Amino acid sequence: MSKFIIEGAKPLNGEINISGNKNAALPIICATLLSEEKITLKNVPKISDITVLLRIMKSLGSKVRYEDKGSTLTIDNSALSYKTLDKDLVGKFRGSILLMGPLLAKFGKIQTWMPGGCKLGQRPIDTHLLNFQKLGAVIEMDEWIEIDGANLKGSFIWQDEASVTGTENIIMASVFAKGTTTIYNSASEPHVQDLCNFLNSIGAKIAGVGSNKLTIEGVSKLNGGEWTIIKDHMEIGGFVALGMMTEGEIIIKDALPEHMYKILFEYSKLGVKTKWNGNDLIVPDQKNYKIKNMIGDQMNKIESLIWPGFPTDILQIMLVAATRADGEILIHEKLFEERLFFYDQLRRMGAKVIMCDPHRVVVTGPVKLKGSKLNATDLRAGMALMIAALSARGVSELSNAEEIDRGYENIEQRLKNLGAVISRE
Ligand code: EPU
Repeated sequence: MSKFIIEGAKPLNGEINISGNKNAALPIICATLLSEEKITLKNVPKISDITVLLRIMKSLGSKVRYEDKGSTLTIDNSALSYKTLDKDLVGKFRGSILLMGPLLAKFGKIQTWMPGGCKLGQRPIDTHLLNFQKLGAVIEMDEWIEIDGANLKGSFIWQDEASVTGTENIIMASVFAKGTTTIYNSASEPHVQDLCNFLNSIGAKIAGVGSNKLTIEGVSKLNGGEWTIIKDHMEIGGFVALGMMTEGEIIIKDALPEHMYKILFEYSKLGVKTKWNGNDLIVPDQKNYKIKNMIGDQMNKIESLIWPGFPTDILQIMLVAATRADGEILIHEKLFEERLFFYDQLRRMGAKVIMCDPHRVVVTGPVKLKGSKLNATDLRAGMALMIAALSARGVSELSNAEEIDRGYENIEQRLKNLGAVISRE
C-alpha cells in the first residue's frame, strides 16, 4: 500500500486537462464484447479499474493493444470463449458487474461473482437480475451468480431503481434480444448516454438516449468502429473544489459546458464564481465564499440525485468545499447510506461537521483546515480528502493511495503541474 504526502496551503495555478470518464469507459469496453470486429477506443483513462477489467477480458480471449501512450485501446474480440469469470478479479471493482449483460447476450449464459468496488453501503444488484429475468433469463445464486439466457426476448421493463450499471447491463443484454425492449426508469447519466451512442455507432438501435425511457430494437450483429470516450464531468466537478479551496486560478480545459450546469449551480450556493472562456472553465482566485441563503427560512442544502440531478460522486468533494464557505449548509446524500462516513476525518482536520443520520451532515464554515493523517476509504472520499489536504495548513499523509488510482489518471503529476507539493511513498 502506498500513501501520498501532501504539503498543503500552496497556491495552485494553471491549466488542468480532463481524463476520459471512467464510468463510460468501463461499460464501453465491456460492450466491445458484443462485436466480433475490431474496435478502437480513444481517450481511455489510464486507471487501475480498467487494467483489471482488461485482465478479465484477456482471460476470455480478447486481444487488446494500447497505442498513443496508453490512451487509445484497440480491442479484437473475434475469438472469445466462454469461461467462469475469475472471482478475485471480479471482486476488485464494481465495474466488473458490467460483464454480465454483454456475456449473457453473447454466450446465452454467464457464471460470475458479486462485484467489489467502493464501500458506500449495501450496493444491491437486484435491479440487474430482475431486468435479466424480464428478458427470459433464469438466475441461480449461491456463493456465485449463474444466469442462463439463451434466446433472450425483448420485453417491457420498469426498473426498480434507476441504477446506472443496471441500465447499462440491460442495454447490453438486449441489443441482440428478439423484438423490442422498452426500459422505463432508465438512468441517463452522461456515461450511460455515451454507452448508448457508442453502441448505436456500431449498429445498435437504441432510441430515447438521454431520457429515462429507452427503446431497443434487437439487431443480429454489431460492427467494428472507432469511438472517443466522453470526458469525465465528475473530474471537472472535483477540480472546481480544488480551485476553490486553494489560492490561485485554475483553468479546466475543455470542460463539457453541456453537462456542468447543475454542478456549477450547486457550487454557486457556496458562493463560488466560475466563468467560461469558450469550453474552458475558469475557477478564479477568490478570497471569500459566502453561502447563499434560500428564499424564506429554509435551510441551505446540496443533495445528490440521479442525473440530471447533482452527481453523488461529487458530493463528498462538495462537503469538503462547504467547510471553506461562510455559513451553514446541509449536505444530503440520497443514494448511498455510507458515502458520508468519511466526515470524521474532516473533523480531525478542524472542520465543523455534524452527522444528523447516515445520509445527512450539516457543515458550518468557514474554517481553515489543518493537515492530518488521512485514509482514502473509497475512491471519491480519497479525492475529497486529497483536496482538503492540499488546502490545509501543514503536512497530511493520505494512505490507501491505490483507491485513488482506481479512478484518477496520473493524479499527482497533474496536481504537481499546478504547483502542488505532493509525493508518493
Ligand atoms: N440500487 C438498488 N438495487 C440495485 C442497484 C442499485 O437498490 O440493484 C440503488 C443503490 O443502492 C443506490 C442507487 O440504486 O441507492 C444507485 O445505485 P447505482 O446502481 O446507480 O450505482 P452503480 O451502478 O453500482 C454507478 C457508478 C458509481 C456511482 C453510481 C451512482 C459505475 C461503475 N459506478 O454505480 O460510481 O456512484 O453509479 O451514480 O458506473 C465511482 O465512480 O466512484 C462510483 C462509485
